[in-house]
Amino acid sequence: MLVVIKKDYEEVSREAARIVAGAVRCRPEIVLGLATGSTPLGLYKELIALYGTGDLDFSRATSFNLDEYLGLPASHPQSFHHFMEQSLFSKINLPRQNIHIPDGMVGHDYEAYCANYEQAIKSAGGIDLQVLGIGRNGHVGFNEPTSSLASRTRLKALSRETIEDNRHFFASESEMPKCAITMGIGTILDSRRVLLLASGRSKAAAVAKAIEGPITSSVSASALQMHPDVTFIIDEDAAYSLTQRDYYRHVLEMTRIFTPERLS
Ligand code: PGA
Repeated sequence: MLVVIKKDYEEVSREAARIVAGAVRCRPEIVLGLATGSTPLGLYKELIALYGTGDLDFSRATSFNLDEYLGLPASHPQSFHHFMEQSLFSKINLPRQNIHIPDGMVGHDYEAYCANYEQAIKSAGGIDLQVLGIGRNGHVGFNEPTSSLASRTRLKALSRETIEDNRHFFASESEMPKCAITMGIGTILDSRRVLLLASGRSKAAAVAKAIEGPITSSVSASALQMHPDVTFIIDEDAAYSLTQRDYYRHVLEMTRIFTPERLS
């Protein structure tokens, strides 16, 4: 596990973009796992800028998004379909047919739908690089606390904290979805490489539990400790509660010298 501590959100976004862009250049047919939320917005802006200057080409890439609210059509302004369209897909050349986001309007037979999503990831060759944010409650995707660490894509009831964090996006509490379809923790752990981005003091406790706490289903992100290639890119505020910050800096210096490919 690499922990990269940057000064602020802008630096986090630039570092994440450097790694994602490098991965796309190295493997143009890359399968990306993408996240929504305020955290990856800076990364997406950087990627759009690189595409705009002709420095990045997504024409052979494929993407799978982590999750979608249940009950929201793609056209709903708060749907993750809409978010991705506005924040990234309408501004780069990732082919439409290569974009996958769980369908919030799947009205029945959730199990079969979710099994198909898993199968689509497998058929694409698996996710090469998964981008994650982290919730205040330690969730990744919508894998709320007590999600099975072996979980796959499924219907998930949202926690009270997640509903509270997101209800201001909706006109009233009754409009706020109560469930979502999300990739599971097992799905995320199958990705070849994971980048988790976090910014701000509100994430400090979750980040510290994920990196330094015990592996527990109460903090879904702690399952990443079992993954062989995870990089946390976090700002100083999000790193605030980590007790081993100097050691992470030392690890990074040694990585730059001995295994720089892990940072490329
Ligand atoms: P945020 O959400 O990026 O909007 O903070 C992260 C999450 O809940 O996973």
